[in-house]
Amino acid sequence: MFTLAHLSDLHLGPLPAGSAHRHFALKRALGVMNWRINRHRVHSPAVAMAIAEDIQRSAPDHVALTGDIVNVAAREEFVGASRWMADFGPPDWISFVPGNHDCYVRVAWQHGLWHLDPYMQGDMRVPLTQETLQVASPFPYVRLRRNVALIGVSSGVPQPLHRACGQLGRTQLESLAHLLSDLRERGYARVVMIHHPPLPGLAKPAKALIDAPLLRGVLEEQGAELVLHGHNHEHMLNTIGSRFGAVHVLGVPSASVIADDQHPVAAWNLYRIQRQAGKWLTDVSIRSYDAASRQVVPLTEFALSS
Ligand SMILES: [Fe+2]
Ligand SMILES: [Fe+2]
Repeated sequence: MFTLAHLSDLHLGPLPAGSAHRHFALKRALGVMNWRINRHRVHSPAVAMAIAEDIQRSAPDHVALTGDIVNVAAREEFVGASRWMADFGPPDWISFVPGNHDCYVRVAWQHGLWHLDPYMQGDMRVPLTQETLQVASPFPYVRLRRNVALIGVSSGVPQPLHRACGQLGRTQLESLAHLLSDLRERGYARVVMIHHPPLPGLAKPAKALIDAPLLRGVLEEQGAELVLHGHNHEHMLNTIGSRFGAVHVLGVPSASVIADDQHPVAAWNLYRIQRQAGKWLTDVSIRSYDAASRQVVPLTEFALSS
């Protein structure tokens, strides 16, 4: 039995002073305005802390954090995020993939996502990887933990105003196909981590993964036991068929939402993954923040089979 915690979209606040003005970018300035008017009421650092502490108490074997740890990709936000992560747990226990807010505007690697690099380091040689000026860690990366392979892909790319799309690109898609095939043959349960919902139609066009149709094709062709995502700030479960069994695609709400008319309150998923009679079985427990008691409490449980 392997236990895996899944949280996403921490959107850590408060925004550091000067986020709008230093290293000015119009998209970031508007994002700061949006934060000050709306989002600061929705995303609570205290709720994020309660979720993190609940995960620490349950002591899973590993943690998947599927992006949007910051808000407007201000340099100081990444410094704060790396401190937050250091308090949360060690880099070999937490795997991170970037979201659109982590790539909100163009930020050089050393001023941005470099601060989270230890959480994006694979431990298996991957022959075909992509690096960019913004995400200079090689993607996909793979972490092997007992009989589970965690595969991180990066869909975060800077977007024009009012867009929050993501893209993997040909290199990552091609590499992912090889990895899924290789890791299946070697008997691993394959868990893919991506920020954007990976299938067509799961997000509005202005927020969608551009190459979702191609990714769906890769998943159908090669299979995967679980695909974990964030971005929509919703509880989501979608299952597709593949040549090698069911592929379960799960999304979690933002891990810091305290009150929002449009989205559920903060939650995280716990997966208990085990091999039984030639199949992979995953028991899913969803735990959600309760504003009245300020505790994280059980919400629901169900089982998945691949
Ligand atoms: Fe988000
Ligand atoms: Fe997002």
